[in-house]
Order: sequence, then structure tokens, then C-alpha cells
Amino acid sequence: MKPCVIKIGGSILADGKPDVDYIKSISSMLEDLNKRMVIGVVVGAGKVGGVYVDAARKLKINQYQQDSLAIDVTRVNARLLANALPSALHSIPRTVGDARALMEASPKRIVVMGGTFPGHTTNAVAALLAENTGAKLVNCTNVDAVYDKDPNKFKNARKFSKMSADKLVELAAKYDTREARGHFIIDLLAAKIIQRSKIETHVVNGRKLSEIKKAALGKKHNGTVIK
Ligand SMILES: Nc1ncnc2c1ncn2[C@@H]1O[C@H](COP(=O)(O)OP(=O)(O)OP(=O)(O)O)[C@@H](O)[C@H]1O
Ligand SMILES: [Mg+2]
Repeated sequence: MKPCVIKIGGSILADGKPDVDYIKSISSMLEDLNKRMVIGVVVGAGKVGGVYVDAARKLKINQYQQDSLAIDVTRVNARLLANALPSALHSIPRTVGDARALMEASPKRIVVMGGTFPGHTTNAVAALLAENTGAKLVNCTNVDAVYDKDPNKFKNARKFSKMSADKLVELAAKYDTREARGHFIIDLLAAKIIQRSKIETHVVNGRKLSEIKKAALGKKHNGTVIK
């Protein structure tokens, strides 16, 4: 089976504070999946990232430093998850290249990482890691799927069960403001990487562990398949 990169939104792992019950249950699911395939996990920042970015904005700290603060928070989240996973490596790689090297050197261990460089979201990091390891990508977020507009703002938003990478790029180009902690489901850089390397991508509601498992194992799920 192909390797699988799983991006877990900070918004579900630590929405304000770490969700211990969620971390316990996703850990046992990841351990289970890890017996069947090579796994890389990328963790996002969540609300705590937003708290630091807001403070930095008020202090007129530049966007590069705002991103750097959010990245530090992703790495704290990644370390917490890694420590909860018996099979995870306890070194949190800082680059996609290092993550690939660890996945290859220790295919039976789970590699967990956060963000890498300012200007790159963790969605982009996950797409790059999937590209660099020939993996498929499962993006676990706080909504059920990709919609034609933000489902939290528009009641009439239409869900995509499947969509092309070209369509994803078009949507991302419209909504990606590139601000630190922006809230488009998959940002433009991530969408372009998915498009150029034709990465099989699944967007699912990460709160529903059965959805993550189905996407990772290639079964039908209720999210969006981007192909
Ligand atoms: N077209 C769209 N389809 C789906 N969600 C959208 C869309 N446009 C904007 N969103 C917003 O994107 C949000 C998901 O992105 P968000 O950055 O909040 O979570 P995440 O990426 O999973 O977490 P994190 O950034 O902390 O890792 C949704 O809650 C939704 O409000
Ligand atoms: Mg996000």
C-alpha cells in the first residue's frame, strides 16, 4: 500500500487547548493504520496559534514573525501527539526532506511534524511531504468536506464529493489571502502542489475517526476526493 500523509488540523487536535480524549482516540487509530502502511503526520496550529498571531498583529510584528509564532505552536502540538503515540519518533523534523528521510529509515515508526517555514501553511507542508514520499494525502479538518464557499458562513454552500485539482486551485486562488492563520480549507500553495503532482487527496472531517480511516484505506467516505 502507498504511504499516507495525514494532516490533522490544529482546529481539531487543540482548539484552544489540547483535546486529550481526541488525542487518545486518534492515537490508537493511527497506531492501527501504521501496522498496514507507512504514515507521516502533519499537525496544524489551532486556536492557540491564532492567539499568538493576534497578539503579534496588535504589536505590529511582521507577517514573517507571525507565521513563525504559529509554526512554533504547530511543533508543540506535534510533540504532544508524538509523545502520545507509542510508535512515533520523538524527534520532530523541521523540514520535509528530513521527514522523508525519517519515514524511509524507520518505516515502522510514525513521523509527526508541524510547520516548516514562514509562508507555508501546514496544509502545504503536508502536500509537499506527500509529493516527496509518493504518498496519498488525507486532510483532516473541522468541516465535512470542501464546499464551493465557506460552509460556516453560507448556509447554501454546496459540498463537493469529488473535484479536480484544477477546481481546487481555482477556489483557493479566490479565497487564499495568505495571511497568518488564514481560514481557507486548502491554501493556494498546497492546491498547486496537489495539482502539479496529481496527489490523490481526501478532505474529511477529522472529528470522525471512521472517516479518516476510510480515506486512508481507500474506502468510500463522506468528504471530498480530489483527483
Ligand atoms: N470552500 C470551503 N470549504 C470548506 N471550508 C472552508 C471553505 N472556505 C473556508 N472554509 C473554512 O475553512 C475552515 C477550515 O480551515 P481551518 O484553518 O480553520 O482548519 P484546519 O486547517 O483544519 O486547522 P489548522 O489551520 O489549525 O491546522 C473551515 O472551518 C471553514 O470555515
Ligand atoms: Mg488551516
